[in-house]
Amino acid sequence: MTMMDKIKETVVFLQEQGVKEVDFGLILGSGLGELADEISNPVVIDYADIPNWGKSTVAGHAGKLVYGTLSGKKVLALQGRFHFYEGNPLDVVTFPVRVMAELDATGIVVTNAAGGVTHGPGTLMLINDHINFTGQNPLIGENLDAYGPRFPDMSSAYDKAYQATAKVVADRVGIDLQEGVYMGFTGPTYETPAEIRFAETIGADAVGMSTVPEVIIAVHSGLRVLGISAITNHAAGKQAELNHEEVVEVTTRIKETFKTLIKEILEEL
Ligand code: 6GU
Repeated sequence: MTMMDKIKETVVFLQEQGVKEVDFGLILGSGLGELADEISNPVVIDYADIPNWGKSTVAGHAGKLVYGTLSGKKVLALQGRFHFYEGNPLDVVTFPVRVMAELDATGIVVTNAAGGVTHGPGTLMLINDHINFTGQNPLIGENLDAYGPRFPDMSSAYDKAYQATAKVVADRVGIDLQEGVYMGFTGPTYETPAEIRFAETIGADAVGMSTVPEVIIAVHSGLRVLGISAITNHAAGKQAELNHEEVVEVTTRIKETFKTLIKEILEEL
């Protein structure tokens, strides 16, 4: 089956399950999936039941798609994403974004848990740009001209108006929203201290193992992008040792603020 046929088959399946108009796609990162529990009149579908869909293997990822209303918007939320480091090809990693575009979404909200380079644990960071350091690109291969151009412009991958809205909203509700550049690695190893010094030198504020492929496909398909990182820990060399209890504690603490922030922003998008 061609990629286009797969996308269409999955869209038809989702429509048969009750997925109708979609305003926004939500990709919820590690520990951040709880936001989908607040969607009203939800249609919940197990990843295992969706044709052409990947398989979620990471702990802290539920592996469910949830469709419904959140902050007055029709959202298609992914509780759990597919990572390249799990062995998924990038067309599997990015397939949900293709499907969101085919369902005529206006934009996507991508979230992740990330390591802090210039920001500390507990920070919520608005992603204003990224550095693709994966050595990969999901658009390598034949271009799907019906979806987007061969050489997509990445000069405003993260929508400027969405960023402005996010800042205004954060200010209004009293949430400290920092901003910066997300640098994407393949993982699954964390970086060495030397790699983090390099990352900081070239302008990274946070590091992670996701998001970049999905954003590239979103831009290619003409979807507007809002990205938020939850900084759960200092990157290598910034802290003596990483304490797992601390990471869990930080995630628990920021996820409530994170949920409030996303809901308030969605209201205004
Ligand atoms: Cl320190 N690095 C990467 N690549 N991903 C992360 C992280 C660090 N902390 C959370 N996710």
